[in-house]
This record gives sequence, structure tokens and C-alpha cells, in this order.
Amino acid sequence: LLPNIDWVGAIDWNVRDFHSYDTAHGATYNSYLVRDDANALIDAVKAPFFARFYRQTTELAPPESIRYLVCNHAEPDHSSALPLAVSAFPNAQIVVNKKCRDTLIRYYGGEAWNWRLVQTGDSISLGKRTLTFIETPMVHWPDSMMTYVPEDGLLFSMDAFGQHFAGTARFDDEADPGVIMGEAKTYYANIVAPHGKAVQRTLAKAGGLKLNLIATSHGVIWRRGVQAILSAYGDWAAHRMAPKVAVFYDSMWDSTGKIAEAVINGASVKGVETVLLHVRHNNLTRVATEFLDTAAFAFGSASLNNLPMPQAAAALVYLRGMNLPEKTGFAFGSYGWGGRGAPEYVEEQMKLAGWKISRPILKCPYLPTGDTLAEAEEAGKALAGIALQADREKRESK
Ligand code: FEO
Repeated sequence: LLPNIDWVGAIDWNVRDFHSYDTAHGATYNSYLVRDDANALIDAVKAPFFARFYRQTTELAPPESIRYLVCNHAEPDHSSALPLAVSAFPNAQIVVNKKCRDTLIRYYGGEAWNWRLVQTGDSISLGKRTLTFIETPMVHWPDSMMTYVPEDGLLFSMDAFGQHFAGTARFDDEADPGVIMGEAKTYYANIVAPHGKAVQRTLAKAGGLKLNLIATSHGVIWRRGVQAILSAYGDWAAHRMAPKVAVFYDSMWDSTGKIAEAVINGASVKGVETVLLHVRHNNLTRVATEFLDTAAFAFGSASLNNLPMPQAAAALVYLRGMNLPEKTGFAFGSYGWGGRGAPEYVEEQMKLAGWKISRPILKCPYLPTGDTLAEAEEAGKALAGIALQADREKRESK
């Protein structure tokens, strides 16, 4: 990617399930070789890809010449090849912060590995280039760290700014920018979103750096879009929302579906983006991505054994985990002879998530009447008003 800095990572073209994240475009596990007076590898790969990582590295530098193996993050998609790498590069110090070392020891043993502990502000001179370390806890794990090369304005940013995107393009300007930014948003929603405050602290640290390239651990390297991805992360981390209404639901005999459509019809006013997702016909990755920047939403489910439909319950749990309490919405759904069921459960979950409840539960026995559907349209229109207000507040906050 620069003279004497090469990508030696792996492309996982066909992975479609990354611990429940639906990776529609596959994934990469990026690793970089910096050749200088002393050679350094920045991150390893997932264990099944070790042979490729080793071959690419040793085609450029003999194994004995690798002096440093930086591990910016202990999660196994980057560290599971480390035990093999430690043996393969016998002269390498394993450069980590203390939390990362402790986590790696839990995973792989490794008490006797040749550790070199670093913390924020520490540097290692390779010769012409320097590696400077910045701890970024909770982006993505407590052990997460970035490595900066000041001579090039190059940030090895670990998971941050990444995208699950398999391809031979190494830079953002070599790929479809819409796809790349879409995958970056999906990645943020499904991996990074719960840690918005930590992202803001990281952005504050990165803001003081000259940044020409952001080399993430997943997907393409940001070159043309450095400012665009920093700005997008700023919006997402600050929970700045779009003028958007989303309706998520699961239905049994389409009663809840009819209410869902009436809500979205009511929300379809000028200036408001609308999204309607049946959570059983869409994966949770998509649901979370749409939820990330929606200002207002409704969540509905038919009642099954006095509880929500299973995938509705799963979606609620997943959305709660995103830790985005600024959302406003309401619960809706249908029920049968029990008189009480899914909508109450949905509202309880919404309250537990900290989401503001915009109106009482909208529910019906068996089949919605014309009055219920009219009320649903009105409720949708009210959500549109909330979304437009959130958009005005976003503009004022910028
Ligand atoms: Fe790509 Fe948090 O690991």
C-alpha cells in the first residue's frame, strides 16, 4: 500500500455467518508487513488462513527477519493464527498492551511468549519508520489498540472503520463507494454501535493525527474517503439520526402485518424515509443496520402462546444490545383469546432498552378493524413528526 508496506492478509470470500452477522459480501482479515531496518507484522489472521499469510509474508521477508508481531486486538478473527505465527517467526516480539496479553493468554496459553508490553504514547522505531501505539478500549474490546505510522500519516485502525467486504480491491477508491460505505454502516451497526462513547474518545484521539490512510483490519483501506468515514463515525457515535421511520414486525395470519402497513402508510410524508421490515424474512444484520439511524420506529408482533413470535423476540434482544436509547417508538400487534400477549412484551422490552414510548400500545384481537387501521395511520404520521423533529435537532447540533 506504500513502498515497503504490504498487505499480507486473507480474503474469506464465502463466509456468510460471522458470529451471527450476515456477511453478504464476505470478509477479509487484514494483516500488513512493514519492511524497514527491523521488519514488523501488524496483526495476524484467522487461523485457517495462516498458510496464505505466512507465504505472502515470507515471499517478501525471511521469517527470521520479522522482529515485531503487533497484535492490536485479541479477538480470534485476528489472533487465532498467533500461536502458529509465534513459532514461524522465532525472532519476533509480540507487541501488545497488557489487557491484550492477558486475553491472549486466556485463549492460547502463551505465558512464555516473547511479549513486549506497550501503552498509549509508546513507540518502536523500525529505522525509517516508527510505530506509535494508541489504546482504544472498547473499539471493539477492552484490549483494542491502534498503531500509527507518523511518517506516512498511516493508521492501522483495527476493527474501527472496517467493513465486511471480500474483494481484490485494497483501497476504497478501487471499489464501489456506495457498497463500501453501506458495508461500513452495517459493520458499525452490528459490531461497534454499543460502544459509541468509546468511539467518540477514539475520534478525539485520531482528530489530532495527520491521516492519509486508514488501514482497517476488515475490508478496504480508506484513502479517498478518509474524511467521509471519520464524519460518518462521528454521526453514528453521536447517535445523529436520519429523518426516518422504521417499522419492524412479525405476523402470523397478517393481522399484525396489516397494522404495520397502515403505520408505514401514515409515516410516508414528504421528507421522511420509510422502511418496513418483516423480521422473519430479513436477517438481524439488516434489521440492526436500519435501526442504527432511524429516529422513530414501531415494533409489532402477533401473539404466540401469549408471547411474541420467536424471531420478533430475537430481534428485540438484538436491538436492545445496540445500546441506542435515543430512539422513540411504540409497540403494536394482534392477539387471540388470551387477551394479552406479544404487544405488552414488546413494550416491556422497549422500556428496558430505554427507548421513549410515543403512545399506548396499539393492538387488536384477531383482525384489525377499520378503526384500528385508521389509528395506526395516525400513529405513523406522529412517528413521521418525531423523525422530522430529530432531523432538525441533528442539523442544529452540527
Ligand atoms: Fe475483527 Fe473485534 O474483531
